[in-house]
Amino acid sequence: MHPTDKPIGIGVLGYGTIGTAVIEYFLDKKPDGLKIKSVLIRDPAKPRTRSMPLTTSLDDIIHDDDIQIVVELLDGNKDDKAYNAIRQALEQKKSVVTANKAVMSKYLVDLITYADTQDVSIAFEASVCGSVPIIRTLNEFLRYDDITSITGVVNGTCNFILSEMMNGNSFDAALKVAQSRGYAESDPTLDLDGTDSLQKLAILGSLAFSREVPPTQLYQCGLIDKAGTRLLDPADFYFAKREGYTIKLIGCVRREDDTIVGGVFPAFVPTSHTLSTVTGSFNGLVIDGDLIQSHCYIGPGAGGAPTASAVISDIFDVSARIRGEFPLCYGIRERGLSLGNFEDSLSEGYVRSYSPNIPGGFAQKLGILSQLGVNVNSAINVEGIVRPGTDADETPDFIQIFPAKNRVMRKALDNFSDKGVHDPFFLRMVR
Ligand SMILES: NC(=O)c1ccc[n+]([C@@H]2O[C@H](COP(=O)([O-])OP(=O)(O)OC[C@H]3O[C@@H](n4cnc5c(N)ncnc54)[C@H](OP(=O)(O)O)[C@@H]3O)[C@@H](O)[C@H]2O)c1
Repeated sequence: MHPTDKPIGIGVLGYGTIGTAVIEYFLDKKPDGLKIKSVLIRDPAKPRTRSMPLTTSLDDIIHDDDIQIVVELLDGNKDDKAYNAIRQALEQKKSVVTANKAVMSKYLVDLITYADTQDVSIAFEASVCGSVPIIRTLNEFLRYDDITSITGVVNGTCNFILSEMMNGNSFDAALKVAQSRGYAESDPTLDLDGTDSLQKLAILGSLAFSREVPPTQLYQCGLIDKAGTRLLDPADFYFAKREGYTIKLIGCVRREDDTIVGGVFPAFVPTSHTLSTVTGSFNGLVIDGDLIQSHCYIGPGAGGAPTASAVISDIFDVSARIRGEFPLCYGIRERGLSLGNFEDSLSEGYVRSYSPNIPGGFAQKLGILSQLGVNVNSAINVEGIVRPGTDADETPDFIQIFPAKNRVMRKALDNFSDKGVHDPFFLRMVR
C-alpha cells in the first residue's frame, strides 16, 4: 500500500464468537491499510471484550462512504436478516465477507451474480469447515479440473459426539462436553439433525459442480430425526469397533454421469480410511477429480479463532481486489450437469435391526431383501447386547448388503417395520 493511500474501511455486523475473534485480530495486529470503522450489535448493554465504535443501526454501516467491506457475522439467518443485510451492502457497492452457511447455501448463485453486476466481491471461506481453506481451493486451484466427488466430515459438533461415543461415552455426556467447550450451541438441533452439514455440502457441491445445488435437493439423515429421536444405538458403536470401522456423519456429493447426487448420513468408515483420522471437533474432506486424483483437507472446523482466520483471509483478499492488486476468480463455470435424485443412486452398508430370537425371524429379513432384489453379502448377529430401552430378549443383527438403490433400501426398512422388526436402520459404508 502506498503511504498516502487511505485505509480501507471495514464494517463488522455482529460482535459474537466470530466477531470478537476478528475484532481482536485487527486491534492487536493493526494490519496496514485496513481499519474496522464500526460494529453492528443488537444489545448495547452487553459487555464487550474490547472497546470499539458500536451501532445498533445497519444503515450507519451500509451508508458510510468510508466503509468498503462489510463483514457479516450475525447469528445464522433468522427472518432473512443476514441475507437482507448482505444484499443491502452489495446494493451500496460494498464488498462482503460472510461466514454464513445458511445464507450462502440458499442464495449462493444469486449473491455471486449480484456482486458481479455491482462490480464488488462476496467471499465466504468461513461458511464451510472453519479454518480449512476449501472454498478458495475449489474456486481457484481446482477450478479447471472436473471434480467427481466430495466426501467429508463437515460438522464438528457431531464429529465430537461420535468420537466420544466411539470411546465408550454416552450421547448425553458427549453433548454436554461439546456444549461446555463451545463446539455445540445451547440448541444443537441444526447440527444434530444434519441441517448444518447439508448447508455446507450444498455450498461445496455448487462450487465443485458449477451449478446451484440447493440443500433441499440433498438427502438428509443426521444423528437425530425430525422428531428428535436418536438414530444410532450402542450396538452400532460396538459393531463398528469389532469390524474395524469408526462411525462418522458423512456428507457426500458426487457426479454420476451428467447428474449430481448427494446427501448427509451416518456411516461406517474403515479405520484405514483418511476420514477416520478426523476426530473431535475437526473437519475433513476428500476431494476426487479427473486431474488431481484425490486430495485430503483436514483442520479445525469451528470455533472463534479458526473461523476468524478464514474471515480475515477473505478480508485481505477482498481488499487486494479493491486495490486492483489481483482478482478473485469466483464465478460459475458451466459444466452442463443436472441434479439427480439421491434415491436413485447406489449405497452399500449394513442394515441394523432388532428382532426376538425366534425361529424364522432372520430368514424373514433375508426374504424381504431378496424379494426387493437386494444382494446380501453377510449377516452377523451380535450377542450380549439388547435393544435400548427394553429388557426384552432382542439382540441386534447387521446384514451387510452389496450396493443397492437408496429408494429400494428405504422400502426394505419400511417392510422390516411392517413385519414387526424393531429399529431397522441403514448404516451406509464409506470406502
Ligand atoms: N461459532 C462458530 O464456531 C462458527 C463457525 C463457522 C461459521 N459460523 C457462522 O458465523 C456467524 C456468526 O456466528 P457466531 O457464533 O459469532 O454468532 P453469535 O456468537 O451468536 O453472535 C451473533 C452476533 O450478531 C449480533 N446480532 C444478532 N442479531 C442482530 C440484529 N438483529 N442486529 C444487530 N446485531 C445482531 C449479536 O449481537 P449481540 O452481541 O448484541 O447479541 C451478536 O454479536 C454465523 O453465521 C455462524 O453460522 C460460526
